[in-house]
Amino acid sequence: MSTSNLALVREGTTELIVPGNYNTSGPGSRSREVFYNRQMEFGRDISVMVGRAVFREGQKILDGLAASGARGLRLANECGVKADFVLNDSNLAAAVLMKQNAEQNSLGHVRIECRDLRSLLADEKFDYIDIDPFGTPIDFIDPAVQGCKNNGIIAVTATDTAPLYGVYPKTCLRRYGALSQRSPFAHETGLRILVGFIMRQAAAHDRAAQPLLCYHADHYFRCYLQVRNGAARADALVRKMGYASFDGKTLDREISDSRSTDKDAGPLWTGPLFSKDLLKRMRATGDLGTANRSGKYLGTWMEEAATPALFYSMDELARRTKVSPPKLADFVEFLRKKGATASRTHFDPKGFKTDMSRRRLIDAYKKFPRKS
Ligand SMILES: C[S@@+](CC[C@H](N)C(=O)[O-])C[C@H]1O[C@@H](n2cnc3c(N)ncnc32)[C@H](O)[C@@H]1O
Repeated sequence: MSTSNLALVREGTTELIVPGNYNTSGPGSRSREVFYNRQMEFGRDISVMVGRAVFREGQKILDGLAASGARGLRLANECGVKADFVLNDSNLAAAVLMKQNAEQNSLGHVRIECRDLRSLLADEKFDYIDIDPFGTPIDFIDPAVQGCKNNGIIAVTATDTAPLYGVYPKTCLRRYGALSQRSPFAHETGLRILVGFIMRQAAAHDRAAQPLLCYHADHYFRCYLQVRNGAARADALVRKMGYASFDGKTLDREISDSRSTDKDAGPLWTGPLFSKDLLKRMRATGDLGTANRSGKYLGTWMEEAATPALFYSMDELARRTKVSPPKLADFVEFLRKKGATASRTHFDPKGFKTDMSRRRLIDAYKKFPRKS
């Protein structure tokens, strides 16, 4: 790559030399160019917060699909931990650029590899493995769950959202062994299918992949899971796998152990998507470049950690009842005052979660005191 085609950008306290024509939104696509997407700064800020909360001295941390090195170098530079950082990409131009970027940030100790990630993971084990591919991560999940040390963490991005959202259910079934379904809460079932897939792959090796932080943002899903040895632990997680059903006429939505219709989404993870303990520790790590956005997400995830699966949107209730929607925060408070568990959800700015039954919820929505 000629130097005239390069740009210098800053994320957190890390300077990055990147291709001048870098992406500013949307998922990437395969090309010989080294990939860099400015919009992913938010996701990388979250990674730095996770790293600050969980990395320990002497651990082996791998950015397996590193491209310019943006994420791995930020982890090495901004987490304040003396660990063994390894950045890998099979594209030679990427490996050359990440070496340059390591030098730019005085991170000469970072090891650069230019290998197929699957072969690297067959040779070495790591305490943290980051997988941020173009599209689906499925090629790398099995190598990652095997290449992860006991109690280590795997962090996975998926940008193949259309199959997971239920736009292409057959593709989802082929890739993830689970049926996706279009619904007002399809972002959540898509994420839960991805989490369930990773969990089942880990369980096949008698390992439990416990979700720590799993979310949806922009054009991607992202999940952090802790991998622990033990068939019994793996069984306990697999028992929380189930199916999500939806009736568009009544707005009924339900999680069950078995499929009730051939359209139900699943198998998918039905348990918590967040560890409150991790979220608390992340909050204490300090602000980063996208502090406004990450602060809002952390607050919502914290609320959401206590509410059950499958969110509702105000739009659905408004359409069903033909009554205009109140302010989300007021309605959530109203549900809480009625004794229900209720929270906002990061999946949808007009969405909320509650344990109130669908019938009582519709009644509460109609009776919410509106100013005339
Ligand atoms: C979406 S980019 C990664 C972006 C990067 N994590 C960031 O934050 O900017 C995906 C990268 O995976 C690399 N890649 C694809 N298949 C690979 C494989 N089998 N082994 C190693 N690297 C691979 C590509 O060369 C590309 O640089």
